[in-house]
Amino acid sequence: MFGLTRARKTAAAVLATAAAATTALIAAPSAVAAPEPVVGGTTTTTTAYPFMMQITDAAQNQFCGGTLVAPKKVVTAAHCMVGETTGSLRVVGGRTYLNGTNGTVSRVSKIWINPDYTDANDGDDVAVLTLSTSMPYTTASYVSSSQTGVYAAGTTARILGWGTTSENGSPSNQLRTATVPIVSDSSCRGSYGSDFIQSDMVCAGYASGGVDTCQGDSGGPLLIGGVLAGITSWGEGCAEAGYPGVYTRLTTFSNLVTTQVDS
Ligand code: ARG
Repeated sequence: MFGLTRARKTAAAVLATAAAATTALIAAPSAVAAPEPVVGGTTTTTTAYPFMMQITDAAQNQFCGGTLVAPKKVVTAAHCMVGETTGSLRVVGGRTYLNGTNGTVSRVSKIWINPDYTDANDGDDVAVLTLSTSMPYTTASYVSSSQTGVYAAGTTARILGWGTTSENGSPSNQLRTATVPIVSDSSCRGSYGSDFIQSDMVCAGYASGGVDTCQGDSGGPLLIGGVLAGITSWGEGCAEAGYPGVYTRLTTFSNLVTTQVDS
């Protein structure tokens, strides 16, 4: 989401953290502009991913993603909801292009933000929206609290969004998708130190970078085996070597989400 990235640190702080954490990370080329396609992947459609929702302002300008898990329930990131009210939001389904006018537009009747949420860097980055209008699209299932094994390091996960296709770049008019491997918790701690909260976050990306979510992708899904298992939350820059994307570890919040979905 634009203007709300709290996850950024100064380059100096990052280098200091990296140096303290592990000598290997000193080599992380933080100043090198590698090709950083958000999603370094490919264009796709909401026909292929019908549960992929645009979270927009009242003028239908997209700023975050969300996942339809029931006809009137959308899972997104808490940090996407900062400063929002039910009246300031719309959820748009079935619209592959940001400049499209097709699909289904719904108002939001309730915003549930995880009450423990303070900042994406502190975890708890999950919210559930209740829609005024049912979305006529196939929903995604999401992990149950017991499925903690889905995050095994090296597992292939899928990311989706309309976010920027490079760090500080422009959003993508067409929905994009890519696959990235889940990163072990110890490796992610090596990247982010104490900012990585293992109970609430899971990391995904290649050690060499190049494929990642980026600004505007927040709130969207990380799918494992086609099941919603994470929510795009934060990262240091985008697609940088040594700095994987950080996603909400949904197993931790699955029961809370279910309470909202069933409400
Ligand atoms: N905070 C960003 C957003 O609000 C998402 C950033 C994801 N960054 C990353 N490197 N994976 O859209």
